[in-house]
Amino acid sequence: MVKKNNKKEKFYITTAIAYVNAKPHIGHALEIIQADAIARYMRAAGRDVFFGTGTDEHGDKIRRAAAQSQKTTKQFVNEISAIFKSQKKVLNLSYDKFIRTSNKKEHWLGAYKLWTELEKKGDIYKKKYEGLYCVGCEKFLTEKDLIDDKCPLHQKAPEKIEEENYFFRLTKYARAIENAIASDNLKILPATRKNEMLAFVRDGLEDVSFSRLKKAAPWGIPILKSDQTMYVWCDALSNYLSIIGYGKNTKTFKKWWPANAHIVGKDILRFHAIYWPAMLLSADLPLPKSILAHGFVTSGGQKMSKTLGNVVDPFEATKKHGVDALRYYLLREIPSDGDGDFSWEKFKNRYNDDLAKGLGNFVSRIAHLLAGEKIAVKLPISRKIQQEIRRMNVRVEKHVGEFRLHEALAAIFQLVQFGDSYINEKQPWKNKNAKVSRDLSALAIATGEALLPFMPETATKILAIFPIKAGYIYPKKNKALFPRAE
Ligand code: MSP
Repeated sequence: MVKKNNKKEKFYITTAIAYVNAKPHIGHALEIIQADAIARYMRAAGRDVFFGTGTDEHGDKIRRAAAQSQKTTKQFVNEISAIFKSQKKVLNLSYDKFIRTSNKKEHWLGAYKLWTELEKKGDIYKKKYEGLYCVGCEKFLTEKDLIDDKCPLHQKAPEKIEEENYFFRLTKYARAIENAIASDNLKILPATRKNEMLAFVRDGLEDVSFSRLKKAAPWGIPILKSDQTMYVWCDALSNYLSIIGYGKNTKTFKKWWPANAHIVGKDILRFHAIYWPAMLLSADLPLPKSILAHGFVTSGGQKMSKTLGNVVDPFEATKKHGVDALRYYLLREIPSDGDGDFSWEKFKNRYNDDLAKGLGNFVSRIAHLLAGEKIAVKLPISRKIQQEIRRMNVRVEKHVGEFRLHEALAAIFQLVQFGDSYINEKQPWKNKNAKVSRDLSALAIATGEALLPFMPETATKILAIFPIKAGYIYPKKNKALFPRAE
């Protein structure tokens, strides 16, 4: 029977769109894998999901990187963007759409529409301006942002800029933003970041320059009938609207907006928690439901940088032990809401300890014990096992909801540990019975199902080892899921 009210609740999730001044590294992989795990989790939970990502292709940082490469800017951004896009297959991502801010048809219409809305509200005005600009951050800095006269993030002295620009009346929305954040109408996780943002708003905001002189920053969206290009952050943030049809297709836009979750790094939280809501309020659009801020992946204890030569390539990392080993590492070893380190040594240890010895061995033990049996699904699962499985699922749901994916995985791996001790206790190789077989198959299947959002390839393999047909489970012998790495 079809239920009357069977409309699925929608869930719109985004990642930041990466600059295409350089190829992706595992910091980018962390973010998109986190978003992918949440998107997959929500789909499995019955939500109607739209998962958007893409590349941020304008601004002087990119124009300069292109100039160094001896390629035209267009050629350069096409190539790097294509590498980002190709992560879909390599990292096994389930995003629905990939947007490029250089794409006029897909993106510019939406960006222009948003700009026009801000203008109509009277929130855009012209002002002569003198300031310090960091091209690395693509933002104006004040003296108090500097350490030893340099941008602390890019270790470079900012450039002095004197221009007449368009400004956006950010200050007008300070109180509304503060309220939205404080009340969790715009929920920022983790709480420490929420408090940082509140402190930042309370400290006092200033209006922001929202355009650059075309002759100083030519690579961007031109502002019609003017000598200016759109400030790259105004351009980039509007991708969250244009990707779902803003300015083009009201129906899809209405269906998906507001976003349920923007996943971003801590370094760009201010743009998302302060500028972005102000722009939306100005355009009379609802605010996103939540912003989830992750930390940084460091490499061998240090910030990843080309100069240090410690940038980890996600493509190379998947070649070592397969895509799920990387997904597992990034989701388990790096706390979702904090910083964490990657080193090849740690990567191998996690792989051997948790995946080869832990999960892989657990699945193989059960598969070998049960192979060839025919286990009725309707045989009751013992109370204790049912409880453990339920407890794990409840914990996973809670941790995903709180943006603690590492804890969600920990809960699944605790079930694996529990399962291992259950096997040891029951010693089914001595006295196997239908009841124990049913319990073990339930543990393996529950583990496979719970892992689907996090390690989709592995989870699918596990479920294929315990196929269910017409009310019976037919366990098979399997090849090791994770052969030990020497
Ligand atoms: N283009 C802007 C985002 C615009 S969103 C409207 C940008 N691009 S970026 O390429 O510099 O960063 C993209 C995302 O990757 C950001 O969320 C950033 O925090 C994240 N990361 C970049 N380096 C990182 C690590 N080392 N570790 C984890 N994430 C990091 O900012």
